[in-house]
Amino acid sequence: MKLRYFSHSAFQITTESKKIVLIDPFLDGNPTSSVKSNDVVADYIILTHAHGDHLGDAFKIAGRCNPMFICVNELANYCASKGFKAHNMHIGGSYNFDFGRVKFTIAHHGSFTPDNYYGGEASGVVLSIDGKNLYHTGDTGLFLDMKLIGEINPIDYMLLPIGDNFTMGINDAVKAVELVNPKFAIPMHYNTFPVINADPNEFKQNVEKIGKKCIVLEFGQEIEL
Ligand code: NI
Ligand code: MN
Repeated sequence: MKLRYFSHSAFQITTESKKIVLIDPFLDGNPTSSVKSNDVVADYIILTHAHGDHLGDAFKIAGRCNPMFICVNELANYCASKGFKAHNMHIGGSYNFDFGRVKFTIAHHGSFTPDNYYGGEASGVVLSIDGKNLYHTGDTGLFLDMKLIGEINPIDYMLLPIGDNFTMGINDAVKAVELVNPKFAIPMHYNTFPVINADPNEFKQNVEKIGKKCIVLEFGQEIEL
């Protein structure tokens, strides 16, 4: 599987079977992403919550590619109300898709759409794809149940925010890595806007101090997992 980091919380997964899954595709209004919505395609779009910097360009992309949206019930209904395919799920539930398994987790955050519809609970997601477990926490503060998430679903790659202000900052994110105990931590949701400026290398150093590994992805970089 390949993991591409656009910047902010936006990722693209390309599975061994060549399915393309986008997570939180915020591209056109994202000053740190050189990739724009017209440059990507999708078979599936996973949304962690409805805020504009996560819903992003999902509908523009969907208008071209007709992907299946996967998100919590209220947000899935919102996507369906725009005429798109949606698979409704909710926190604690998992489901096997043709690309892998998706499980929704709690996240401590809000969720309203840019046009002010309630988007249901904000969420994180554990993806089991091609024999690996990825945990994209979504936007969240630190919470102790992360320990349980890591125990039940041994995590290979944890994607987590470090930008502070709206989410965990570096210190809380290091604690989150300790709780989840992933093989690798990958920072996200930083340096998009001045209010969430953070140094990913400071995060990496602090993660390494607790004996864990961290990969800082360049904006636009794609790696093989
Ligand atoms: Ni948010
Ligand atoms: Mn956000």
